[in-house]
Amino acid sequence: MVILSRADDQCVTCHNSIEDKPSLLFKNDIHQQNGISCADCHGGDRKSEDADQAMNKKIGYKGIPKGNDITKTCSECHNNQAKMKRFGSSIKTNQLEFFATSVHSGGSIDGGEWIAQCITCHGAHGVSSVKSMQSPVHPANVVKTCTKCHSDPSYMKKYNPSLPVDQLSKYHTSIHGSLNKKGNIDAAECASCHGSHNIYRPADTRSTVNAVNLPSTCAKCHSDVQKMKKYNIPTDQYKKFAKSVHGKALLEKHDLGAPACNDCHGNHGAIPPGVESISNVCGTCHALNADLFASSPHKKAFDQRKYPECETCHGNHEIVATTDALLGVGVGSVCSKCHKSNENQKGFVAAQFMRGLIDSLELSEKNAKGLIEEAQQKGMEVGEAKFKLRDVRQSRLESRTMVHAFNPEKFKDVVNKGLEAAQFVKSEGQSALDEYQFRRFGLGVASFIITLLAVSLFLYIRRIER
Ligand code: HEC
Ligand code: HEC
Ligand code: HEC
Ligand code: HEC
Ligand code: HEC
Ligand code: HEC
Ligand code: HEC
Ligand code: HEC
Ligand code: HEC
Ligand code: HEC
Ligand code: HEC
Repeated sequence: MVILSRADDQCVTCHNSIEDKPSLLFKNDIHQQNGISCADCHGGDRKSEDADQAMNKKIGYKGIPKGNDITKTCSECHNNQAKMKRFGSSIKTNQLEFFATSVHSGGSIDGGEWIAQCITCHGAHGVSSVKSMQSPVHPANVVKTCTKCHSDPSYMKKYNPSLPVDQLSKYHTSIHGSLNKKGNIDAAECASCHGSHNIYRPADTRSTVNAVNLPSTCAKCHSDVQKMKKYNIPTDQYKKFAKSVHGKALLEKHDLGAPACNDCHGNHGAIPPGVESISNVCGTCHALNADLFASSPHKKAFDQRKYPECETCHGNHEIVATTDALLGVGVGSVCSKCHKSNENQKGFVAAQFMRGLIDSLELSEKNAKGLIEEAQQKGMEVGEAKFKLRDVRQSRLESRTMVHAFNPEKFKDVVNKGLEAAQFVKSEGQSALDEYQFRRFGLGVASFIITLLAVSLFLYIRRIER
């Protein structure tokens, strides 16, 4: 490709003399700096000084591209690696590929062309490197570029009346948004969470904000030790989350019922849940635990001391599956962190008592199950008792939740239901085994008598024969 010097380029020369807006803007355009000129996008004969000849449709002058032709014009180079090489460029050439499948290549209301074109975000003349402060997609400016549409209710309503238009106002309440407003480009902006050309609806599994992908999107920054150093906050959230009961459910089992980062921190208002709101966050999914906690003696005691609610005992990012070991006053129990035999003693006694109850329920359940299994192996009918075992299990599950009332009496009621059911199962199991023993004994006696009879009959017959 012959790159003309600017002096030889009659399009530029003549248009500069007219001082129209495109040619003024083009002076600072990255394309201009790479030897590209008017004719590379608009066509025509750049060597001709004559306007009619230079802008002659017959020799390939295209005029002003409209609609999707705009994106096609840009993509003639940006989707063509060989062509970009000829301009000495080795940047990515995948923008069209992504964009054409993205939510912004849906049909627009007026005319059916794509919702956005390349120039909607980058401009047409005066295009800058995306790293430059001049670029409308530079992190300091991209929020404005996206929200030109997304904060315009009358425009957005035409496409999707149910789509919120509050992203900007929420974003400005977040730590990310307030930093971005001050020109800090370390903080997340629209494109660092959503992508640029590859923007999809959140429910789309290709989306960077899809629940399963979101934790790695946040981790791009929050696990970057170098980047977060100056903020003096931990960078272990992703690592811990991935190991947690929530992270495993979401990332490994793709269980969408488990929380991703944004379920606790919000989407656009990504802020740490304040001390008082934490149980509200957990309570959106663990409603029963939260209700019980709210009416427990800990509610007031924790509020007064400004302890976070659920987090105090379960942590935040590394929440693990719970066991009975958490309850009580032994090693590994959470209660003993605050209750000791000589400190907050009532809770100490309660914890010890509650742990004793749940241990005895577990033991009863184990014994009852053992008896039933043994009876079943011996061919005894224990259907009803086996069914009743479910009640025991249910009571054990309920009692683990009932812990959160931190009320020994209420806890005892739930455990007792299970203990009673276990007692029933045990006695059913025992009598089935007794019955089995009895039958076996009966069978033994019967066969002994029959054998005895047969032998005596035999002897008797022999005697008669003699
Ligand atoms: C000798 C001066 C001259 C030259 C050379 C020239 N133009 Fe123009 N061009 C004009 C003028 C004047 C207008 C404004 C016409 C109008 O407003 O009706 C114009 C308009 C345009 C427009 C606006 C759309 C349209 O068709 O009205 C485009 C795009 C354009 N020129 C591109 C080019 C390109 C590309 C070249 C080189 C291949 C070029 N021009 C060469 C003078 C020139
Ligand atoms: C990278 C591609 C590209 C280059 C290079 C380019 N243009 Fe354009 N130009 C466009 C596109 C795309 C539009 C349509 C813009 C729109 O619809 O808002 C346009 C529109 C125009 C228009 C009419 C609308 C307006 O904004 O006034 C004129 C005049 C124009 N260009 C002149 C020029 C001139 C003169 C040059 C060279 C100095 C040039 N262009 C270089 C892509 C380009
Ligand atoms: C919805 C807005 C938007 C649209 C539409 C858009 N871009 Fe981008 N583009 C961006 C953002 C934001 C970046 C910066 C990405 C980054 O820093 O990672 C970018 C970056 C780029 C880059 C730099 C290299 C790269 O891929 O990061 C090029 C080249 C580019 N865009 C070309 C295009 C072309 C060509 C089109 C049309 C097919 C287009 N863009 C459409 C927002 C957009
Ligand atoms: C004639 C080929 C060609 C056309 C047509 C073209 N570009 Fe480019 N574009 C380039 C080259 C070459 C670069 C410089 C890339 C580099 O710095 O390595 C570039 C750079 C860019 C950049 C800056 C990328 C970065 O690394 O930050 C953006 C954004 C961009 N173009 C957008 C557009 C848009 C929008 C259009 C359509 C209106 C368009 N381009 C049309 C060749 C073209
Ligand atoms: C030209 C206006 C416009 C611009 C600029 C724009 N968008 Fe959009 N965007 C839309 C429209 C319209 C829709 C709705 C499409 C639909 O529902 O069919 C949309 C949809 C979306 C969606 C999917 C919403 C959903 O749940 O359906 C996301 C996410 C999104 N845009 C993010 C962005 C980001 C990030 C930027 C900036 C990089 C951006 N948009 C720039 C107009 C725009
Ligand atoms: C910290 C990451 C993050 C930032 C920054 C961010 N978003 Fe979002 N965005 C999300 C998440 C997460 C969702 C929702 C996912 C879901 O619904 O499951 C979302 C949803 C959306 C939606 C769909 C409608 C809605 O509100 O739920 C649009 C549109 C959108 N974002 C646009 C934007 C725009 C515009 C910006 C810039 C002002 C922006 N986002 C900044 C993470 C972010
Ligand atoms: C582009 C990088 C980037 C991305 C992506 C990002 N963040 Fe941030 N985030 C930051 C920076 C920088 C801070 C400022 C740290 C500070 O001031 O303490 C921050 C602050 C936060 C804070 C407040 C921390 C505190 O207590 O000071 C939370 C919570 C947070 N981000 C959550 C998220 C979540 C959730 C996501 C994903 C949806 C996310 N971030 C995505 C860069 C990012
Ligand atoms: C189950 C809810 C929950 C989930 C899921 C969650 N967080 Fe948090 N996060 C919290 C709580 C609670 C805090 C502590 C807030 C406080 O103490 O004020 C916190 C604190 C933070 C902080 C502040 C610094 C720190 O470590 O204390 C950042 C940054 C953060 N989270 C990012 C993330 C990221 C990134 C993800 C996803 C990988 C994530 N969080 C997932 C609940 C959650
Ligand atoms: C979006 C819903 C959601 C939110 C919000 C949520 N969780 Fe969970 N949580 C779940 C799901 C689903 C599971 C079960 C995961 C699995 O094991 O498959 C779970 C499991 C747990 C477990 C383990 C339960 C067990 O049987 O041992 C604990 C403890 C827990 N969450 C505590 C919390 C705390 C504390 C918070 C707030 C900081 C919280 N959760 C926020 C949905 C949520
Ligand atoms: C004072 C400590 C403490 C606090 C505060 C606490 N928990 Fe628990 N949590 C426990 C203990 C102990 C267990 C385990 C009980 C067992 O297995 O015997 C447990 C078990 C759980 C379980 C698994 C059992 C079940 O109910 O499915 C979930 C889920 C749970 N907690 C959620 C929460 C939520 C949500 C909050 C906040 C509203 C919270 N916890 C507050 C101590 C606490
Ligand atoms: C973070 C500290 C902390 C943890 C952990 C904790 N408690 Fe407490 N608890 C308190 C405080 C403070 C009070 C109120 C002071 C008091 O009355 O002793 C309290 C009160 C109680 C009470 C009410 C006592 C009364 O006055 O009637 C019970 C019962 C109780 N806790 C049980 C438990 C159990 C069981 C656990 C473990 C699952 C536990 N607590 C874990 C701090 C804690």
